[in-house]
Parts: sequence; C-alpha cells; structure tokens
Amino acid sequence: MNALYHLYINPLEKCNLRCRICYTRKSSPILTEEQILNFIYRYQKEHEVQTVTLCGGEVFALPYMTHCINILNQEGIFIQVVTNGTIDRLDELERPNFVNLIVSVDGLKDYHDKNRGEGNFNKSIDFLKKARRLGFHTEIFSIVTRQNLKQIDEFEKYINGMLGKTDITYHPRKPLNYLKQHPVSNIQGDVEGFDFLTKEELIVLMKTKKTFPPKTLGCYQISLMSDGKVYGCCEGFESIGTINDTIKHLIESFKRKLQKSCSNCIQPDFMCGMKEILNYQVDHDRD
Ligand SMILES: C[S@@+](CC[C@H](N)C(=O)[O-])C[C@H]1O[C@@H](n2cnc3c(N)ncnc32)[C@H](O)[C@@H]1O
Ligand code: SF4
Ligand code: SF4
Repeated sequence: MNALYHLYINPLEKCNLRCRICYTRKSSPILTEEQILNFIYRYQKEHEVQTVTLCGGEVFALPYMTHCINILNQEGIFIQVVTNGTIDRLDELERPNFVNLIVSVDGLKDYHDKNRGEGNFNKSIDFLKKARRLGFHTEIFSIVTRQNLKQIDEFEKYINGMLGKTDITYHPRKPLNYLKQHPVSNIQGDVEGFDFLTKEELIVLMKTKKTFPPKTLGCYQISLMSDGKVYGCCEGFESIGTINDTIKHLIESFKRKLQKSCSNCIQPDFMCGMKEILNYQVDHDRD
C-alpha cells in the first residue's frame, strides 16, 4: 500500500505566529528529536519509509529540527516541511534536493499580512526565493476564504512571475462543519474579512484547482502527533494507537480502519467536514 511509505509527523503545536484564521490549538507537548528518530527507525524495521512530512505548529521554531532533517536525509529519506516561511534556517540544511519546502502564502500581500501579521508576506516570499536559489523543492499552500477567492488569478500571476512556475495547493478554510466535529483542532478565529466559502464556491474550487483535501481524497497516512498519539491522517481524531505501540500494531490498525471505510477517507463520517459536499460532487460527476 503506497500510503505506508509516507509518514506524517507533527512534533509541536506551538508557533511563532498567531494567524487570525488558524484552526489549531497551540498546546504544549513537543516531541523530542530522539522520539522522532526512534519512531522512524522502528518503523523502518517493519516497512520502508520514503517520505516524511513535518508539520506543526512551526517546526523551524524547534532548535533541533534542521539537525533532525539532515540525519533523515542522510538515511535517504525525502523530507517535506509545511512552514510559514518566516524563520530562515535554510543555510543549516545540507541536502536541499532532498527537501520540499511547502510554504503557506494565503494570497497577495495585504490579505496575507492581515491574517499572518505585518511584514510576514515579504519574509515568506524572500524565504521561497532563497530556497529556490539554494536548490530546494518548493510549493505553496494557500488558505481560501470568500475574500481571496476572487484574487486567485492575480495571486497565481504574481507568484509565477516572482518565483517561476510554482505548484499551489488551495486549502479551503476549514468549514464550520469541520470545526464543530473536530474535538481538538477547532479554533474558529476571525470571520470578518475571512468568510467561509459557500458550498457552491467550495465545489467549484475543488473541481478547478488542486486542493486539500483533494476531491478524490486518499489523503491518509500514519500520522504521529505532538502528544504521542498516532492517527490515520493529519486531520485525525480517532486514534489508531500511540508512539509506544509496536509498528506492527499501528500498521494493522491503520489497515483495518481503511478497510472499514467505503470511501477514500480514513474517517468517513467526518471527511474534513465536507462529506455532504464531496458526496454531492460525486453524485453530480456520475450524472
Ligand atoms: C496548521 S499549519 C502548520 C504549518 C505552518 N505553521 C504553516 O502555517 O504553514 C498547516 C497548514 O494549515 C493551514 N491552515 C491554517 N489554518 C487553516 C484553516 N483555518 N483552514 C484551512 N487551512 C488552514 C496553514 O495555512 C498551513 O498551510
Ligand atoms: S497557520 Fe501556521 S503559522 Fe499560522 S498560527 Fe497556525 S500554525 Fe502558526
Ligand atoms: S479526514 Fe479524510 S478527508 Fe480529511 S484528511 Fe483525513 S483522510 Fe483526508
């Protein structure tokens, strides 16, 4: 199964920024470098690991993070980092070609800074430019609300002009249905100036752009979180075990959970709060 070659690790929820529409809690537990490496080494004894995606919180706020990435790269593991791009430690990373930096840029300067704070757009764009120069792989994640939806064409033109052709994945702002159901990542944040997309806008976005979750889903992988719990995807809340369980047990419970699902989602009753929309879309695509 392809998903088993990929691990998702969220070592901390804490962050150097306080974005106005961030849905995650800034809780305290932080995985140590040793915990992360031991988990991956144990996993490797059961199954090959090709890629590890690191997300947070902000992983570049962790002093050990660049060392940890260098060690994993030496093991031949490709690393993806989801980052806000405001903490530049690029010079500490030894193998740019083994790292994909997924930088969050929410739109043009005024809009991005309204969410992320004054000056952060320029920091993240400079980070992306430098990363490109140094030979890192780069991508963009971009949260979509009703306000920046209208600016997507202009945003893409700006990014492609500034950085060259860049892969952008759009994250529709987590809908209220997501926030109502998720027991932990459920911070609503500001709504004024950042309205949730309507059902119709969401459907068009998912049909016309690369999104997360993608319209065909399949966005699951074994995911280790900062409190040591392990889930079947990065948005998981139905735990499949903990960091202390055997890898065999984790893989088996991951597979069992997937087998029970008749959709391409590991939490089919949840589907990131988009069940109604995704089912609607599938029904209409079938027509
Ligand atoms: C929680 S952040 C952690 C990584 C890093 N701090 C960053 O901002 O890229 C992971 C991703 O979730 C996105 N995100 C944050 N709040 C969101 C929301 N309310 N709806 C959808 N995506 C959101 C971020 O833009 C980022 O791409
Ligand atoms: S979106 Fe990322 S940068 Fe912004 S507060 Fe949330 S975790 Fe931090
Ligand atoms: S809950 Fe389902 S749709 Fe959401 S990330 Fe997990 S697998 Fe993907």
